[in-house]
Amino acid sequence: MKVLGIETSCDETAAAVIEDGTIILSDQVASQVEIHARYGGIVPEVASRQHILAIIPVIEQAMTGADVTWSDLDGIAVTFGPGLAGSLLVGVNAAKSISLAQGIPLVGVNHLEGHIYANWLVEDSPDDTELFPLLCLIVSGGHSDLVLMKGHGDYVLLGRTRDDAAGEAFDKAARILDLGYPGGPAIQRAAESGTASIRLPRAWLKGTNDFSFSGIKTALLRLVEAGKVSNRADAAASFQEAVVDALVTKTVAAAGEYGVKNILLAGGVAANGLLRQRLVEDSPLPVLIPPLKLCTDNAAMIAACGYFRFRAGKKDGPNLDVVPGLKLA
Ligand code: KG4
Ligand code: ZN
Repeated sequence: MKVLGIETSCDETAAAVIEDGTIILSDQVASQVEIHARYGGIVPEVASRQHILAIIPVIEQAMTGADVTWSDLDGIAVTFGPGLAGSLLVGVNAAKSISLAQGIPLVGVNHLEGHIYANWLVEDSPDDTELFPLLCLIVSGGHSDLVLMKGHGDYVLLGRTRDDAAGEAFDKAARILDLGYPGGPAIQRAAESGTASIRLPRAWLKGTNDFSFSGIKTALLRLVEAGKVSNRADAAASFQEAVVDALVTKTVAAAGEYGVKNILLAGGVAANGLLRQRLVEDSPLPVLIPPLKLCTDNAAMIAACGYFRFRAGKKDGPNLDVVPGLKLA
């Protein structure tokens, strides 16, 4: 079964063709990062205009790259939320138009659920037996969620951030340290030549599975304002250490509490080298980690998720609408 995936929830215009939810036939991403970098963050109006310019060429490239025509496709999967309304609309309208014109079944995908399915796009993709229940740590620019996955499409929210998302905290810390945008990769790069010598506070929120990252960010800001940061690499390493420590400690604890069989990492922050390493080291359970390239936004993960939704009998029609505040559970 071949599925075309379309993703335009934020600042990447992406399309991909995936076979049986696990094999990448093509994977195209047109990034707007350089355009938004000059503003130090995403400008929604600029993002939706760029999506309009890029969407058709990106879909065409994905189709050509996979060597398929419309008649080879068994389904179209598109992100319908959460994300920026104007950005989501471009992908959803493109998907609905193709679906109607070519008579190809359509399914809407939750962007966060898509991130989870990046873990299926590997050579040895996860086998359903001995997989569930599974604890997902989803860490992106907009979310930091701990989600219990009982089966395909079956989610329970266990915890979330009470303030900044992990990726958002990385982006803000990079701005404080004047390291550039996007902040996650910039902090990681700077941290490589530093040591985590500055002690930053962690908010443990004991008795809950929630996270809080604004305190770490504010502590860093106070140190910079007081002129106490002489080495930006050390500050970046200390910040990264504090965020990763909180994420890994709370995830491993929740995994024990809920008696899951596996832990799964997903979202843009899953690209962080220290987080990937520390989670594997500290977890007594097997950890699923997406390929580096598929951590940040892409359409391959949306198509993979779409495959599992089609397989479960889900389908959407021309009335599919964007839901900017869509929840996973
Ligand atoms: O999933 P994603 O591409 O977009 C959203 O759905 O939000 O995540 C983007 C976030 C940004 O905040 C970015 O700074 C962060 O992921 N990120 C990283 C790394 N690469 C991207 N954070 C830490 N370390 C990285 N290597
Ligand atoms: Zn994302």
